[in-house]
Amino acid sequence: METQARPKGVLDETYVHDRATKPEFQFRLATRARAFAQVARSHLPDHSRFSILDMGCAEGRTMREMNRLLPRSTITGVEYADYLVESAGELPNGLRIMQGDITALPNCIAPESYDMVSALAVLEHLTDPLAAIRGVRKVLRPGGIFVATCPSPVWDHLAVRFGLLKGEFHVTEMDKRALVEVVKAAGLELVEYRRFMWVAVAFLPYLRVPVPSLLALRVDRVVESVRFLDWMFVNQLVTARKPA
Ligand SMILES: C[S@@+](CC[C@H](N)C(=O)[O-])C[C@H]1O[C@@H](n2cnc3c(N)ncnc32)[C@H](O)[C@@H]1O
Repeated sequence: METQARPKGVLDETYVHDRATKPEFQFRLATRARAFAQVARSHLPDHSRFSILDMGCAEGRTMREMNRLLPRSTITGVEYADYLVESAGELPNGLRIMQGDITALPNCIAPESYDMVSALAVLEHLTDPLAAIRGVRKVLRPGGIFVATCPSPVWDHLAVRFGLLKGEFHVTEMDKRALVEVVKAAGLELVEYRRFMWVAVAFLPYLRVPVPSLLALRVDRVVESVRFLDWMFVNQLVTARKPA
């Protein structure tokens, strides 16, 4: 049960419906999940089974996708909104969702118990992202990996202006500097910062043109090599490690 006043960045009931029905939501969540899985595979290649904490997991759609791409993972999701937790339905083996505030993680989440923690499209919803990442540091095992994605603020403002996105739930602007600073301030080592989701591809789902996430990330790699196109990515991903 939600016990305190609902934080400003917690999403409303319409989110479940949007994610179930709108191609642009499905494209973005699938691409975030795949970007996360790529980091997982490159950093934890030898793990027979690894545990992931997914912060701000909504109704678990993205978690399911992460688990499909990383079938040997166990994933615990934490989500503040009761109605999103309740919308999760029956989850596959190894997946569970609990209600809680990710800026003050529930006590049942043991310290140093996760190989990876994800915060996909979440930090911009928090008034205090540093509190959340301090929690990440606590629950990651030494050497464990944290992955966060955040929309690029400039594209986020444009999307809100043109009615493509509801802006009221984004409460903190997370640009490159803010992202890098906050992971370092929490005591994590920065591994990589990169941009992804080239705007020309990310816009296609709005036109009802389906784009597989694998293709989108492959296009990103090509566009990435052309330095002056750097500003055309709508999303950012940061990878950090808890010192061993
Ligand atoms: C944009 S959604 C991202 C969902 C999922 N991580 C994904 O990538 O598809 C952000 C989620 O974070 C949740 N959230 C916001 N503030 C939170 C908090 N303080 N504690 C837990 N969840 C929170 C929102 O309710 C929402 O479900």
